[in-house]
Amino acid sequence: MIIQPKVRGFICTTAHPGGCEKMVEEQINYAQAQGALNGPKNALIIGASTGYGLATRASCLAGKTKTIGVSFEKPAEDSRTASAGWYNTAAFEHIAHKHKVYAKSINGDAFSNAIKQQTANLIRADLGQVDLVVYSLASPRRTHPQTGEVSTSVLKPIGKNFSGKTVDPIRGIVKEITLEPATEAEIADTVAVMGGEDWEMWINLLRKENLLAPGVITLAYTYIGPELTHAIYKDGTIGRAKEDLQQSANRLNQQLNHSGGQALLSVNKALVTQASSAIPVVPLYISLLFKIMKEKGTHEGCVEQIQRLFRQHLYSSAPPPRDAAGRIRLDDLEMQADVQQKVAELWPQVTTENLRKLTDIAGYLDDFYRLFGFNSKEIDYNSEVEVNIPIESIREAYESI
Ligand code: NAI
Repeated sequence: MIIQPKVRGFICTTAHPGGCEKMVEEQINYAQAQGALNGPKNALIIGASTGYGLATRASCLAGKTKTIGVSFEKPAEDSRTASAGWYNTAAFEHIAHKHKVYAKSINGDAFSNAIKQQTANLIRADLGQVDLVVYSLASPRRTHPQTGEVSTSVLKPIGKNFSGKTVDPIRGIVKEITLEPATEAEIADTVAVMGGEDWEMWINLLRKENLLAPGVITLAYTYIGPELTHAIYKDGTIGRAKEDLQQSANRLNQQLNHSGGQALLSVNKALVTQASSAIPVVPLYISLLFKIMKEKGTHEGCVEQIQRLFRQHLYSSAPPPRDAAGRIRLDDLEMQADVQQKVAELWPQVTTENLRKLTDIAGYLDDFYRLFGFNSKEIDYNSEVEVNIPIESIREAYESI
């Protein structure tokens, strides 16, 4: 099949297996080029197939860490390509196995009891215990494993209308949007999906089954961002969910501290991922931010961020810096005063006409297409490719039944 990008709204409905493999390879190469890492021995990454979770798994490979990755991706079917995360996972395992490093993947709903139990069984059978558990899920909905209730997250302000600028990056149009405030039910639903309850459920199960190594680190990713995005992010429904995540971290810490373990939040930089492209305002902010940070020489992508997380914070011999709330701040370069001052100065000036000049919308779009395996210089997108790519460990698991 010849695969070209097909964009609908803020998502690309096709993905290129060869291109996805290149992107995964680039992340692993970058991580390995930073030198040997004295990192975790056995890691579980929940949400391991794209974005920050995939970068975490790639970073683990630099330290030859054995990984189990959980994600929810679609295999290819008839004339439809698999999802990008499926191809990424297939590529990751393939590369890890070439390096003779253990990597197995579980594809299914991480919110369910069944997938949690399947993962626990795999840890017990193959690894014994894990010393790193990273929770990097981003999902639009969750079925509660006890009540069966389905919650859908919304990206809305709280308390009052929000009116502001946003961009349609594909069409290159800057426009005004107005969003109505979320209802109490919508706030509760967003907290149910993106808050900390599910993270706690994972850790409680693994702890109960004695699958957490002494000194285990568990980590979830969060975002704060500048004033400009607060109405829609920090002070909006997603911000409420992230506050809930902080409370979960506090509770988990109390439980894990007894055995020398810790639960941490890492505040990461705003980057182009499938999750962030769905948030109003954020793509325009990212386009401005990238321009300024690239000019300053401080721009980083997902894998650069996670390398810094591993080498300077989690597995460094020096005492790792934390903010007043005990969080890791990988967004330190994004939040530098001069960077944010420039963003704030340029923000009111951006229009459809000057979008390309004032912002790095081209870089935003390039990153967006790369998420789905497009825009690689090494791939001929006019050639036929096989779309049915198996994930090695998943195929083996089926064959053994
Ligand atoms: P992403 O969309 O690239 O990745 C989401 C992952 O979750 C994928 O592996 C997907 O398969 C998995 N997933 C979704 N629903 C699932 C389910 N029901 N069961 C199993 N797996 C499921 O998202 P991204 O951006 O990497 O986000 C990860 C975390 O990082 C989120 O908590 C997000 O808030 C946080 N973050 C993201 C930032 C950004 O700018 N992208 C900035 C700071 C934090």
